[in-house]
Amino acid sequence: MNLKTKVVAISLAVVGLSSCATDNTKATDKDVVNEQTAKESKNDLIKRVFSRAEVQYTSLINEIGDKTPLLNPRSVKKDGSLRMAWREDWTSGFFPGTLWYMYEYTKADKWKVNADKFTMAIDSAQFVKWHHDVGFMVENSFGNGYRLTGNEYYKQAVIDAAKSLSTRYRPVARIIQSWDTDAPWIAGRGWDMPAIIDNMMNLNLMYKATGYTKDNKYADIANNHAAATLKNAYRDNGSCFHLVDYDHKTGKVRSTVNFQGYSDPSSWARGQAWGLYGFMEVFRETGNVDAKNQAIKIADYIMNTPKIPADKIPYWDYDDPKIPESPRDASAAALVASALIDMSELVPEKKAEYLAYAEDVLRELSSDKYLAKEGTNGGFILMHSVGNFHEDNENDSPLNYADYYFMEALVKWQHIKG
Ligand code: GLY
Repeated sequence: MNLKTKVVAISLAVVGLSSCATDNTKATDKDVVNEQTAKESKNDLIKRVFSRAEVQYTSLINEIGDKTPLLNPRSVKKDGSLRMAWREDWTSGFFPGTLWYMYEYTKADKWKVNADKFTMAIDSAQFVKWHHDVGFMVENSFGNGYRLTGNEYYKQAVIDAAKSLSTRYRPVARIIQSWDTDAPWIAGRGWDMPAIIDNMMNLNLMYKATGYTKDNKYADIANNHAAATLKNAYRDNGSCFHLVDYDHKTGKVRSTVNFQGYSDPSSWARGQAWGLYGFMEVFRETGNVDAKNQAIKIADYIMNTPKIPADKIPYWDYDDPKIPESPRDASAAALVASALIDMSELVPEKKAEYLAYAEDVLRELSSDKYLAKEGTNGGFILMHSVGNFHEDNENDSPLNYADYYFMEALVKWQHIKG
């Protein structure tokens, strides 16, 4: 981090202290952490983290062994045992996705073999039609596999997954429905046709499928969903709700709520990050100016709100009144860093600003505060994320998607000049 960035960071911290009643983070937090990683060169930092990741993920793979059914690890339970992701769980593609990034960085055959093994373990995920998360599941695993190997089987899985996701398109509201209303976690809530902000992360799969098949229907669905989300899920200040419920007969908005956040008016940290990443991808894949402006607006909100502490790792919800006693969410921070690295290439006039923020986040996550020591954290790479806070089973925990977006960001950062 250069001196200028540091001064900006400290000033922001001071603004944060004076204007946000709930944020008691000390301005000095940033200096303490930066002292540890600031002097390390970018390449040395990335190399160090990947070496750590190799040790950690080797132990995870050894722990899983040849158990059947072969499942991917998701987190660590309170009793210290691994929490595994069922094949149709939304998180099932992240572990193989991280293994693909390990292969991309190291070029070692061991990681390719394991990435393929754990990708194929969720072969059936491409046919899931009962929820919207096939993008998470299939793009991160098969999609990365295709990008790195050219294996046609992986490519077909991406197309099949887009076909599955298309079945959830609802023309009346021009959205992809996230969950069925008889899903156990929402039954009784009175929702009719819910779409959540996370769904923005499934659109890239649709653009890829259009690219592979030359059939525009997938991209059209993605474009419509993005436009509806921009219109209905966002507040004027660039923050978003978690969930918009639509009327299945008229397509009109029935309600906007924060199912996974602290309260309806609050900003759930990962939701803000999903939205940033999602609109960045829509702009990257289509050049759509509305998506570009929305991504810039969201980035401005995230980078400038005094609700995020000086060290740039958000609490799980920006507005939890228990801050600073609330857990941080490293997964949201890793997502923001990864999205901003892409944004730095897509919006050249803001390159320095986006890269400086992403670098600060990555240096923080690479410090002892967040990077697990060898042989700890159940074999995962990052500590201190929050799954669904209200379920209280992944609060202040490792998460496979925190690892995924962290490693992705580091791989991308490595190739950025400047
Ligand atoms: N997609 C669910 C979550 O972000 O927790």
